[in-house]
Amino acid sequence: MSKKDLCRIAILFSGRGSNMRSLATHISRANVPAELVFTLCNRPNAEGIEFCQTNQIDCHVIDHKQYEQRQDFDEQINHLCTSHNIDLICAAGFMRLLTEKFVSDWHNRLLNIHPSLLPELKGLNTHERALQSGKEEHGCTVHYMRPAMDEGPIIIQKSVPIHLEDTEKCLSSRVLEQEHIIYPQALDIVLKNRGYY
Ligand code: GRF
Repeated sequence: MSKKDLCRIAILFSGRGSNMRSLATHISRANVPAELVFTLCNRPNAEGIEFCQTNQIDCHVIDHKQYEQRQDFDEQINHLCTSHNIDLICAAGFMRLLTEKFVSDWHNRLLNIHPSLLPELKGLNTHERALQSGKEEHGCTVHYMRPAMDEGPIIIQKSVPIHLEDTEKCLSSRVLEQEHIIYPQALDIVLKNRGYY
């Protein structure tokens, strides 16, 4: 595969970065027609930064607190992505809302993962709310991002059972295990749809 046949990807993350790691590992496989050009993290102390350093992944740390306006921060991300000819952005545990302009500019080229079976349980604390709901299943979703939070066409979802004895901790780790499986699968679906495979 020559470099020009590869989808150029940027991953955005904020903290632990386990979804970023699972995507980066997938993209690094020889048969995946994609290249991880850089990662971007908005929190200077995020745990995931170390993985990038250890694995020679170019990681831009851009503290959103240095920007007065949300749109200025987003313009900086946009500038980085356009100047590096990024084809696809994957938000992976990126805990910042992106402006409507940014999301529209990257329409259908911006993916997100959310720890619930969307459209149920948009927003934060999904595991706690899933437990409180009395429902028997919970899960995770990868979707195209749209300006409204946790909205957009669903690419793939995976449900997990909620057990009576579940705590937030064990439910969230059961969901996270599936997140690490479905984000690479969703990426492959998008790469196929865009003709890279
Ligand atoms: C994940 O559950 C993701 O779906 C949510 O925040 C968590 C981030 O975890 N948005 P990690 O940083 O990918 O480990």
